Amino acid sequence: MNTLITGGAGFVGSHLAEALVARGHRVTALDNLSTGDAANVASLKADSRFKLVVGDVTERGTLLPLVEECDVVFHLAAAVGVRLVVESPVRTIETNLKGTEAVLEAAARAGRKVLLTSTSEVYGRGGKAAFREDDDLLIGPPTKSRWSYACSKLMDEFLALAFWKERKLPVVIARLFNTAGPRQTGRYGMVIPGFVRQALRGEDITVFGSGKQRRAFGCVSDVVGALIALMERDDTSGEVFNVGNDVGISIEDLARLVKSMTASRSEIVHVPYDQAYEAGFEDMERRVPDLRKIRRWIGYEPRHQLRDILERVIAHARAARPSP
Ligand SMILES: NC(=O)c1ccc[n+]([C@@H]2O[C@H](COP(=O)([O-])OP(=O)(O)OC[C@H]3O[C@@H](n4cnc5c(N)ncnc54)[C@H](O)[C@@H]3O)[C@@H](O)[C@H]2O)c1
Repeated sequence: MNTLITGGAGFVGSHLAEALVARGHRVTALDNLSTGDAANVASLKADSRFKLVVGDVTERGTLLPLVEECDVVFHLAAAVGVRLVVESPVRTIETNLKGTEAVLEAAARAGRKVLLTSTSEVYGRGGKAAFREDDDLLIGPPTKSRWSYACSKLMDEFLALAFWKERKLPVVIARLFNTAGPRQTGRYGMVIPGFVRQALRGEDITVFGSGKQRRAFGCVSDVVGALIALMERDDTSGEVFNVGNDVGISIEDLARLVKSMTASRSEIVHVPYDQAYEAGFEDMERRVPDLRKIRRWIGYEPRHQLRDILERVIAHARAARPSP
């Protein structure tokens, strides 16, 4: 199978590329290297089944021939990360809306199936213990720029499902919950690489807000396995699936776990949200997926739990640090 991965030099995209090549598929990664890095796909550089095209997903002249050459499209390119979203709301909205529109149009023209990676952010401020794909969504007001990510991704979902309904374009939507693993960068507000970096450097581990907010972390290798399985099945078109891990942890407990697993002398300190991001920043109390649908459809079961993920992230961060 020939696959196109937009955002293929990013964190999830590079793991997806490796997994597809390992299964014998040909992969083209289209990435503008804005938050991604060619180093993420360095392991594939010498493999004739892999190609990195540096370009923007909104450039139709670049995109269309790549879509025509492939059999399926994994659309991951997006503006990602709370810090990036808060600091660059125009870029977030434009990248997420225009990029997805361009991909869906090109795929409809060429008749290629698309998998769209959406996000658990679309569940917004809903207070449920575990979110289900057909839940009502409660998003904050447009004056709080953090919600622009959720809304732009939600419009991507609407547009994808509209293409499926009106133009019979096969599209499946994967709502990724927090995904973690080696190569994820902490630069744009991702919590695990941020905590690990602080712990290894002996800096304060900064917990934003009360630390009572709960998150559930999916291992990137489990997540990319689910994305491939969702793409491979014919009956997933027009469907939305949560993807992640359903075992939650508070951010305060996560900080303690990182500190103990790295044997760090760092202090754990609390930073109010308005200092961490911007005045009036809103966060969700809990964000844990209900995984019953994806279990039922593809027999998905997360194989790696949090300690396992942290061990890999810590080992990767240690290996990447210059020796003292
Ligand atoms: N990692 C998570 O926890 C998580 C959670 C929910 C959803 N997601 C979704 O998964 C996808 C991948 O996220 P990630 O964590 O790998 O982030 P990432 O930032 O590492 O990957 C995004 C990639 O897209 C590229 N990109 C951005 N704009 C582009 C453009 N206009 N043209 C071409 N390439 C462009 C970036 O350079 C980067 O390589 C995104 O769609 C994101 O919304 C991720």
